[in-house]
Amino acid sequence: MEFDLLVIGSGLAGLYTALQFGDRGRVGLVTKRGLTDGATALAQGGIAAVTSPDDDVRLHAQDTIRAGAGLCHEDIVAAVVREGPRRVAELAQLGVEFTKEQNGDYDLSIEGGHSRRRILHAADLTGKAIEEALIDTLNRRPNVDIFEHHLALDLIVTAENGGRRCQGAYLLSEATGEILPVRAPATVLATGGAGKVYLITSNPDVCTGDGIATAWRAGAAVANMEFFQFHPTCLFRPGAKTLPERSFLLSESLRGEGAVLLNREGERFMLRYHPEAELAPRDVVARAIDQEMKQAGTDHVFLDATGLGKEKLETRFPYIFGECLGYGIDLASEPAPVAPSAHYCCGGVLTDEHGRTGIPGLYAVGEVACTGLHGANRLASNSLLEAAVFAKRAADAAAEDIPGLPAPAKPPPWNGAGGCDLEPVVVAHDWYLVRRTMRDFVGIVRSDPRLEMAGERLATIHRNVDKTFAAARPNYDLAELRNIVTVAQLIVRSGQARPESRGLHFNVDHAETDGGCAHDTILTYDNEAPIRYN
Ligand code: SIN
Repeated sequence: MEFDLLVIGSGLAGLYTALQFGDRGRVGLVTKRGLTDGATALAQGGIAAVTSPDDDVRLHAQDTIRAGAGLCHEDIVAAVVREGPRRVAELAQLGVEFTKEQNGDYDLSIEGGHSRRRILHAADLTGKAIEEALIDTLNRRPNVDIFEHHLALDLIVTAENGGRRCQGAYLLSEATGEILPVRAPATVLATGGAGKVYLITSNPDVCTGDGIATAWRAGAAVANMEFFQFHPTCLFRPGAKTLPERSFLLSESLRGEGAVLLNREGERFMLRYHPEAELAPRDVVARAIDQEMKQAGTDHVFLDATGLGKEKLETRFPYIFGECLGYGIDLASEPAPVAPSAHYCCGGVLTDEHGRTGIPGLYAVGEVACTGLHGANRLASNSLLEAAVFAKRAADAAAEDIPGLPAPAKPPPWNGAGGCDLEPVVVAHDWYLVRRTMRDFVGIVRSDPRLEMAGERLATIHRNVDKTFAAARPNYDLAELRNIVTVAQLIVRSGQARPESRGLHFNVDHAETDGGCAHDTILTYDNEAPIRYN
C-alpha cells in the first residue's frame, strides 16, 4: 500500500489533518480500533478560543502562559490563540453544533486558569460532536482511504545522507495478526495520549502512547514527558470490585458553573489553597485534592454540584448527569465522590511550529506532540484547540515537503519479532506492573528515591518485554505493552532530569522552582535506532 500522506490516529488531530490536506494527494488514515474509540469522542469540556467581544487573544495567551509555569513557547502560544478562532469557525461550518444562547451567541463556559468565558462546547459531549462532523465530511472525500483496527507497530525509517527519513509504517492487523508495510513520503502521528501508563486514568483503552514510543524508537526527540496532567475530578466509585476501564470524568465546566470541592469534613478546602479556589490551574487543584486525601487518610473528596440545580444539570450537562444517575449518584441532590486520575500528556514528540519532527517525512499533531504550547501544565480545553491549529499547519507543511521527498523505496517485510505464541498472562502481568509502578512512584507528588525505584523496575520490565517481543508473534497487547513501558521510562527519565518542582512535576526533594531549570526536557534515543531497510 502506498499513499502520499499516511495519518495514524482518528481523533480530532488525525481526522482534521486528513481533511486539511484536501485534494493534494492520496491519504491513508489508519486507526488501531474503531474511528471513534479515542479520547476526542469523550472530550466533555470543549475547545478554548476567543470568540466573544469581551475577550482578547492576548488574554488567552496570558492565561495559557500562566498555566504553563514558565515553559510555554510564547511564539507558539501567540500563533495558536490567533489561528484558533478561524479553525473553530471552520469546524462549525463542517457541521459541529456548538451550543448557543437564545440570542444566537455561543454559550461559552469557563474552566480552571481561564480569565474569561471562552470555551465553546456542544452540551457536555463536545468531542463526540466534533468527531461525527469530521467523519461525516471525510467519508465524502474520495482521496481518503480509512483503515480501522490496524496498529502502527513501528515506523519505516531509512538512513539517508547521514540522517534518517520516515517512509511510512508497519501496521499490525487486529483481525489477522498480519504485518503490512504502508509506504508514504509523509507520515503524521496523531495517536493521542498515554493515560494507560497509569493504573487510574480518564483515558480510553487506546491511549497507550503508541506514537511517542514508535517515534522514540525511530530516533525522534521527545520533550517534557515529566508533565503528566491529572484531572482533579474523576468519579470515584467506592466499593467497585474491579478497576474501571477508565475513570468517568466530571468535567471542569461543572466547577466553572459553580460546583465546589469538599473534603471529608464537608469543608470547601480550595479556598485555603488558591485565590481562584476551584478554578485555579489544574495542577494546583489536583495537588490540593491529593493533600486533602492524604491528610484525611481517604481515597476521595467530593464535588458538590447541587448548587447548579436540577434543570441546569439536565440541560447543560445531560451526559454527565445521566451517567452519574447510572452509578447511583444524583448530582442534583448529593455531592459525588471524586479523585484525580491521569488525564493528559503535556510532553510528546518534539515538533517545530509546523508539526515537523526532527525526522524528515515525520510529523506529529495533537496530544502525541510537544509543540511548546502547554509548557509545564496545559490550560484546560487548549488541547482540542492545539490539535485543530496544528492539523492545518502539519497538513500544509507535508504538502509543501512532499515534492522534495523522493518516493519511498520498497520496504522489506517486517522482521522485528519471532514466531512463538504468546503467554497472555505474562503480558497482562507486565501491563499491571508498569501501571502500578507509575501510580505508586510517579504520581501527582514525586520524590527522588521513588523516581529511582520506578526507573529500576521499569528497566527490568522493559528487558523482559524486549525478550518476549523478540521471541513472539506480536499482538495488540504485547505491542501496547512495549509502548507503555517505553513511555513510562521516558516520564521517569524526564522527571529525573528536572531537579525542581514546576507545573505538573512536583518533587518533594526539590520543592522549589529553580530558575536554572526554565527549559524543556529534551530526550533523544542515543543508541542506534532501528533502521528497517536501505
Ligand atoms: C474537562 O471537561 O474537564 C476536560 C477538559 C480538558 O481536559 O481540557
